Amino acid sequence: MANIYLPYGTTEGQTAKIAEYISDVVRAHGHSADAADIKQAGDSIPNGYDAVIVGASVHMGKHEDYVRDFVRKNSAALGRLPSALFSVSLAAHGDAENAESYVEKFEAETGWRPAQVGLFGGALLYTQYGFLKRHVMKKIASDKGTLDTDTSHDYVYTEWDGVRRFAEDFLNRL
Ligand SMILES: Cc1cc2nc3c(=O)[nH]c(=O)nc-3n(C[C@H](O)[C@H](O)[C@H](O)COP(=O)(O)O)c2cc1C
Repeated sequence: MANIYLPYGTTEGQTAKIAEYISDVVRAHGHSADAADIKQAGDSIPNGYDAVIVGASVHMGKHEDYVRDFVRKNSAALGRLPSALFSVSLAAHGDAENAESYVEKFEAETGWRPAQVGLFGGALLYTQYGFLKRHVMKKIASDKGTLDTDTSHDYVYTEWDGVRRFAEDFLNRL
């Protein structure tokens, strides 16, 4: 049985949901998992874990700075233990090239080249954004053409089957 740590960064909560979902998949396979918001859990990987899956979301073209700092600080452990990254963005829904470029930038900034990377669609939470954010996000969505623009609804583009496969692939590699 493996003990897996899932530190993540999240701004509006979708990456947290995905980390919890991966934890559920891991547990369903008889392993143990702890998802932890880096903002609360701190910037170290606690002792006793056999593998690490880091999650982060993209805003204004980049992942959270504190996740970048977490990865830099823990580069020795991430190099030693089986590890993976999952990146949450709207680009991952229909604009794979951009979604990959965010990860390339993150890898260049951290020096960490995870053996496995998951690119997952995020959420457009129009009803939870303030006026300005809603306006900006609607403009971005309408420019993209692949995203919804009715601001009276929220939209989740995460493909949960893909998240499950990512988790199972990770377990198979352990
Ligand atoms: C202000 C703002 C800026 C964003 N910028 C980008 C972006 O540059 N590229 C992108 O692909 N997605 C972008 N997104 C979409 C987020 O990645 C998506 O909403 C994701 O679900 C956020 O995950 P989180 O809730 O875990 O923070 C942006 C979202 C917001 C609200």
